Amino acid sequence: MRFAVPKETAPHERRVALVPETVSKLVKAGHVVGIEAQAGVGAACPDRDYEAAGAKIMSDPKALWGEAEILLKIQKPTPQEIALLREGTVLIALLQPLVHRDLVQQLAQKRVTAFSLDMIPRITRAQPMDVLSSQSTVAGYKAVLLAANYLPRFLPMLSTAAGTIAPAKVFVLGAGVAGLQAIATAKRLGAVVQAFDVRPAVKEQVESLGAQFVGLALEEAADKSGYAKELSEEHKQKERELIAKYVKDADIVITTALVPGKRAPLLLTKEMVATMKPGSVVIDLAAEQGGNCELTQAGQEITANGVTVLGPINLPSQMSFHASQMFSRNLYAFLQLLLTKDGKLNLDFNDEIIKGSCVTHEGKVLL
Ligand code: NAI
Repeated sequence: MRFAVPKETAPHERRVALVPETVSKLVKAGHVVGIEAQAGVGAACPDRDYEAAGAKIMSDPKALWGEAEILLKIQKPTPQEIALLREGTVLIALLQPLVHRDLVQQLAQKRVTAFSLDMIPRITRAQPMDVLSSQSTVAGYKAVLLAANYLPRFLPMLSTAAGTIAPAKVFVLGAGVAGLQAIATAKRLGAVVQAFDVRPAVKEQVESLGAQFVGLALEEAADKSGYAKELSEEHKQKERELIAKYVKDADIVITTALVPGKRAPLLLTKEMVATMKPGSVVIDLAAEQGGNCELTQAGQEITANGVTVLGPINLPSQMSFHASQMFSRNLYAFLQLLLTKDGKLNLDFNDEIIKGSCVTHEGKVLL
């Protein structure tokens, strides 16, 4: 097959869909891989590393998009990029098709076979190709480092000649993939960590990382696939009362709570933030979905009563090397499902993962 990897054009996107390690595997398997010149530069993967891995460096995006049989991207294509796609090309990227319905229509009209990696079902067999998990792992880790950078305190307990320093308290709201990685990272840095969630399954995972679970653990809070559901007004009220108790003592609050298809739940009110100590930091990883904190503004830094509230956008891009490496490995695992042993495309629409992630095929929208 002829693969193509363009340079990402979205603002602040530093990641690249394939890193040289994966290119080398595809080339060894007999495929041709075209990489747009400088595509990996933001992820610390220079053209020479791709060349050494056997890729063809292409400086003309038209030729790259036009020749591709399988086009691999991180972000959704722009209208200009869609215009470069040929009929029958397979496009694999993060398309968020339920949000970007127009884009899906355009891809169907172009008769592109489009796979959206964010639609891969969260089943055990799909774990190696789960980009939501790999990128959330990066975001959870980076959120703690970002908070530590802003915090005018140490995270670990220190016994020094200048006396004992108490460890920082970190409170994580929402302990899915990003939250669990934030807990693990804060523990490694020596903080005292508490975590809150509404799904009962989370308690054991939080405790296995050495943190204290202070959540509601509501049986009815998880749907069949394990995702959280929106809470009733009564539970929302209980939840806020409980969170308020712990927030006031926290030096760092990291929020990650999401409910698929809905605005992120509002967990941290401005009144709660006002009870926090000056110098404390809130990192709201749900900023792009409306935010878990009432004060959050996506992509902005807000200060209220001496508390800094950050709503970072696309944190994985800030750790572009490993984020790209993990994304690339996820893609490679996904490609194993789409290709036969002798490298031909074989789309088995009875396969749950293929069926779940394919959003357009032969001119039709498959949502
Ligand atoms: P997510 O990003 O959708 O949500 C993050 C966390 O926020 C979740 O733990 C959720 O319970 C929590 N949350 C939602 N509403 C909340 C509220 N009102 N208050 C407090 N917390 C709230 O979650 P993520 O990380 O994408 O994981 C979703 C599910 O998928 C989980 O059940 C996870 O175990 C499962 N999963 C399965 C995988 C597999 O087997 N392939 C891989 C990764 C995740």
